[in-house]
Amino acid sequence: MNKINVKIVSTGHYVPEKCLTNEDLEKMVDTDDKWIYSRTGIKNRHIIESPKIEDTSDLACKAALDAINKANYDVNKIDLIITATFTPDYRSPSVANLVQAKLGLSHKEIPCFDINAACTGFIYALNVASQMLNSGKYKGVLVIGAEVISKFVDYTNRDTCVLFGDGAGAVILEQTLEDKPAYFYTVSQGELDKLIYVDEFVHMKGKEVYLFATSTIEKAIKHILNDTNMNFNDIKTIIPHQANLRIIQSVAKKLELDMSKFFINIEKYGNTSAASVAIALDEFMSTPNAKPNDKVLLVGFGGGFTYGATILTI
Ligand code: UT7
Repeated sequence: MNKINVKIVSTGHYVPEKCLTNEDLEKMVDTDDKWIYSRTGIKNRHIIESPKIEDTSDLACKAALDAINKANYDVNKIDLIITATFTPDYRSPSVANLVQAKLGLSHKEIPCFDINAACTGFIYALNVASQMLNSGKYKGVLVIGAEVISKFVDYTNRDTCVLFGDGAGAVILEQTLEDKPAYFYTVSQGELDKLIYVDEFVHMKGKEVYLFATSTIEKAIKHILNDTNMNFNDIKTIIPHQANLRIIQSVAKKLELDMSKFFINIEKYGNTSAASVAIALDEFMSTPNAKPNDKVLLVGFGGGFTYGATILTI
């Protein structure tokens, strides 16, 4: 597999203040904390008050600023912004365009655009960003996964409303001469478009998605390890898309891995789609477990059907 060296300069995340608990949802639909927690692993999710007050680009910008501030990064060094989202503020312009303006970078002649690969979006965006860094033309890339899914959740439908949350995660990547290999595997299976799709609301065939998710996550992990001649001992942590704890447990069982190999934060945020792996990466990076030059494996699946994995060197 083609080797690209990519340096993670910093990571950040942001979730809206308002917390929607399982107990809150008990008052809205015919559900209960026991069902939600035992079937999904979710306790809380954060959602915006209103898109008029805070929309996807605001969450994206706050996550970006968190990454920028943590590293005291000179924002003027950013020469490419890519946002993964399926819930942009507008159909056009892109969230990345809006983030450029909010960060005060409108004077810079830089490309900014969004990618929609649903919950696999952040992994797709990391892939595109890394290939563009590798071209030699770009030096500092801001990659964001940001969603305000609550705009598309039917809060009278218990099948979906308990699952999703809003949030954003960001990473700053740079070219490097150091040995920091990054590898990618990104796939789409377009005939499965009706498993999860979004019009006015998110629609999902939960059971079918569940089954497909467990097999594609296993497949993506095995594929990228095989392609890179690595094994689980080479990987410090697996950071999976946080859609359902049971999906991750089932994958761990199939791969005969202890659950401690996986970074999990679904209890706090629910499924934040393209933001999920980005937020989890940032939270993992602030644990003592994250040591320089460790390798992390990010893996995701989502609408499309899309799925994929990346191995990054932190
Ligand atoms: O980012 C990718 C997006 N999505 C996913 O990854 C989701 C994948 N799928 C899942 O996570 C699971 O399929 C769900 C969490 C969505 C559902 O869990 P399940 O164990 O597959 O439940 P089910 O759909 O088989 O439903 C079991 C029962 C049903 O009742 P009956 O027919 O057995 O009487 C549902 O009506 O649970 C009922 N149910 C609920 N009960 C209480 C469904 N939603 C709820 C709810 N509260 N929120």
